[in-house]
Amino acid sequence: MYSDTKMYSDTKMDGDVDAERLAANFDHLDEKLGDEVLNQVYRRLLAGCPVAKTAAHDGFALVTRYADVVEVEKDCTRFSSAQGVIHPPHPGRDPSIPIEFDGPAHIAYRKLFMEVLSAPRVRGIVPYLRDLTERVLDAFAEGTDDDFVQKVAVQIPVRAVGRLLGFGEAANEQLQAFAATVLEHAGTPAMLEAMRELDALASTHLSQRRARPRDDYLTTLVQTDFGGRPLTEDELRNIVRSFVFAGFETTARSIASLVHHLVTHPELQARMRSDPASIEGIVEEGLRLFPPVHTMFRTVTAPTTLHDTSLAEGERLVLLYAAANRDPEQFEDAETFRPDRANPRQHLAFGIGPHYCAGATLARAEIRILLEALIARPPLELVGTPRHLPRLMMGQMMGVDHLPLRFQGEH
Ligand code: HEM
Repeated sequence: MYSDTKMYSDTKMDGDVDAERLAANFDHLDEKLGDEVLNQVYRRLLAGCPVAKTAAHDGFALVTRYADVVEVEKDCTRFSSAQGVIHPPHPGRDPSIPIEFDGPAHIAYRKLFMEVLSAPRVRGIVPYLRDLTERVLDAFAEGTDDDFVQKVAVQIPVRAVGRLLGFGEAANEQLQAFAATVLEHAGTPAMLEAMRELDALASTHLSQRRARPRDDYLTTLVQTDFGGRPLTEDELRNIVRSFVFAGFETTARSIASLVHHLVTHPELQARMRSDPASIEGIVEEGLRLFPPVHTMFRTVTAPTTLHDTSLAEGERLVLLYAAANRDPEQFEDAETFRPDRANPRQHLAFGIGPHYCAGATLARAEIRILLEALIARPPLELVGTPRHLPRLMMGQMMGVDHLPLRFQGEH
């Protein structure tokens, strides 16, 4: 078994001095912001001015404290998502449905997602998720590729989303290829090409459903009466893209980061086995301490203040979820993984308020079911050096990117 479990980021930092500099000029696209460095930077920001401002990318304000993130998230009138939740916004890109809409349009679009992501709908696919998880773990145990990220963490969410939409098993390979490209080439032209291929796949399936309706969500979408009109082809493709894009990389990175933590903390694996009820708290602490989504942007709609900092109309601000999840004002012993917190779901990994993650119930079910399946198998152990993403991908996403594992005693 490998004893060197230290994660690396590509950048060796000279500790505090660099963290101080990176905090003062915070730039979410900076290549130096590896996992460890980010946490140092967040500690600096949390200890400093509550709502600091950076000059990067024409300037934006940094919202790091738990209470401030909650205030912004809950007030979509003062803080709009419609100018883009990523920064700088890509010129000419259609706003993403539903996340980059405010007010009534947001509510109407969000309803389309909740139809298939509500708690009862997710409960309905639990048997499928259990079966899928066992199949994926069997294939991993028997296969020669030991990368838990590509072979397990990605497979479950991508197939779950495909199933919910009604793509069917036949499209799994295409969705999987799309997912692998996005994971490998996030933020590059190769990823944009993969997005175009996903659009083409969506269009093919949507026109098949128009010609031959089925009992699935894609059919529901093409038949939807959206305020007296059908959804346009652009809207339909946008919705499918949001499902696939929001639904798999987030969950895959959460699974990878949590399982990495478990294999490097055998006492937690032992605890899950002796007390399966601890799994829920373990899932939530994983989400709190290793949230896959670090940033979402907002735009100020009228002059206002946030925690005594003045904000002008049109100013951009970033919600830093991973910092807020470690805010010592909110969480006792904030840096420690504590599955027995009194209110384990208090973290902001899924946001809060009107844009609260539409897929939170599904993501939680996928992660919980995986852990339940793992405790019925031999413990996992490292067989190589794991790796985090070298920096925030697309200025937004962090997590474990490569995780060579095996079940003890196998291969
Ligand atoms: C661990 C996994 C996940 C994490 C950490 C996560 C995180 C988030 C966060 C932080 C937001 C709030 C964005 C904002 O306030 O601007 C969000 C929104 C959203 N998420 Fe997730 N997500 C996850 C999984 C999923 C899944 C599985 C799906 C669907 C299959 C999904 C679909 C969405 C959608 C549609 C929104 C937009 C909601 C709205 O604007 O009303 N997410 N997610």
